[in-house]
Amino acid sequence: MTRWHLSARSSLLLLVPLLVALAAVALSRPPEARAAQPTTQALAEETEADPELGARLYQRDCVFCHGADGKGTSRGQSLTEVGPAEAHYSITTGRMPIEDVGDERRRREVKYKAEEVDALIAHMRRFLAFEPEIPEVNVEEGKLSEGGEVFLAECAACHQWSGAGGALLGREAPGLREATPTQIASAIRAGPPGMPGYGEEVIDEEQLNSVVKYVLYLREPQDRGGNGLWHLGPFAEGLIAWVVGIGVLILAVLWIGERGTGEPVAEPQPSEGEGGATQ
Ligand code: HEC
Ligand code: HEC
Repeated sequence: MTRWHLSARSSLLLLVPLLVALAAVALSRPPEARAAQPTTQALAEETEADPELGARLYQRDCVFCHGADGKGTSRGQSLTEVGPAEAHYSITTGRMPIEDVGDERRRREVKYKAEEVDALIAHMRRFLAFEPEIPEVNVEEGKLSEGGEVFLAECAACHQWSGAGGALLGREAPGLREATPTQIASAIRAGPPGMPGYGEEVIDEEQLNSVVKYVLYLREPQDRGGNGLWHLGPFAEGLIAWVVGIGVLILAVLWIGERGTGEPVAEPQPSEGEGGATQ
């Protein structure tokens, strides 16, 4: 009995440094590391636009299909009903320009620098519709729970609850792992081909921040996997849950054991004579 009792206690002692080490690993993971990324991207999108550069790029890459005045040709649709949000989305996700009319519509490597994108859109504003405008996103102000509600109600049917994308009604909804905050918000407001656009009356500004925050949140666990160091994160957390759980169990056992070994002295009490004998 006593020997078991000691071995349980020494195993508990062994557990303490292990717990401390694991807690240190988990706590050393900076939570800001994930939130920092979108901010730099948003800043890159805010540069001065050069209208001459924009005119040149539009002439070179877009006129052939959309026409000089954006009214469209037999090769490409009119852009006069399309707002800046949609133009921004199409260009920054590399969906436009395409090489040939029949080219598959998908995300591609973007061929423009940030200032070229701004210049192009500045030029296109001469014929684009005013709305929807490129949305201002403030991810920090978003509420994750609210974002989750909006996402499940409005987006999950096509993009899946995990944001992995999927095929619905024959049209493929892309995965949501690559879009920047502005692209997510632009897609929501503009409604690119195959996706509905959501105005303020359906998703207000606060909800927009929230759902963008949620889309970024969805990709977090996998992102950490891409970074060798932080891959420890979820693993350590899981391990800690186990170790703490087992630790609590051992403590409970010890406590019961202690009570068990403490009382037995009283156990022989029924024989009154023994008590009297010791006195
Ligand atoms: C080879 C023809 C072609 C060229 C070149 C082209 N487009 Fe398009 N564009 C299309 C077609 C076709 C569509 C119809 C939507 C679709 O199914 O992709 C379209 C749709 C669009 C739309 C609205 C729908 C969307 O994608 O969100 C925008 C905005 C757009 N193009 C911008 C541009 C810009 C800006 C350029 C130049 C940088 C450009 N396009 C170059 C053919 C072209
Ligand atoms: C009816 C199906 C449908 C619904 C509902 C829908 N989407 Fe989409 N979504 C699409 C399709 C299709 C595309 C591809 C559009 C294109 O070709 O440009 C897309 C594109 C996107 C993209 C661009 C992805 C990328 O990186 O290229 C984002 C971001 C996005 N959707 C977010 C959302 C959010 C957030 C919601 C909910 C508020 C939502 N979508 C609701 C079908 C849908």
